Amino acid sequence: MQGVTVVEHPLVQHKLTLMRQKDRSTKGFRQLLNEIGMLLLYEVTRDLPLEAVEIETPVTRMMAPQLVGKKLVLAPILRAGVGFLDGMLDLVPSARVAHVGLYRDPETLSAVEYYFKAPSDLEDRLVLVLDPMLATANSAVAAVDRLKERGARDLRIVCLLAAPEGIAHFTSVHPEVPIWTASIDERLNEHGYIVPGLGDAGDRMYGTR
Ligand code: URA
Repeated sequence: MQGVTVVEHPLVQHKLTLMRQKDRSTKGFRQLLNEIGMLLLYEVTRDLPLEAVEIETPVTRMMAPQLVGKKLVLAPILRAGVGFLDGMLDLVPSARVAHVGLYRDPETLSAVEYYFKAPSDLEDRLVLVLDPMLATANSAVAAVDRLKERGARDLRIVCLLAAPEGIAHFTSVHPEVPIWTASIDERLNEHGYIVPGLGDAGDRMYGTR
């Protein structure tokens, strides 16, 4: 699918299988989500540009590569997106964080905003929108709408599972925003859950319901 990268790394696929299992503990689920977040971030940042800078090692001077530009922004959609955050911040500790508070109206499945706080210079930064479950994609579409309104121009979506319906919806509204996911599952069911999926990611992560 154009604009969609499925991360097929064996560690990601193995950890995803563990997460899908309904008897996985809250602690185990949360830990796996953090671990997969780290691995996904590694893939999503593969093409970040580098520049050569002169440094001095204990032995000699050399030209060495370093990342160019401002620190990237991690933008978790509350609440499930927060599950990716710790693992990603372990890998990129100086990243900035934008919180996007959206919940899914259980009747209409549309995204309702209740909180938004982001760095002021989004236009100069790569923004990674973290949304573990790209189901209808209503939340991801709404989050990217808000981030674009605040100046973001360079955005990527990072999810764990995506439904074909969500990908189609998202790419019809934001075709230039690429998506990384660990799996494209079969479909959405009548309640808006991804099938086979893993259930409600937020509930499984926080032990709610
Ligand atoms: N959100 C979830 O947490 N799970 C789904 O299957 C769909 C949306």
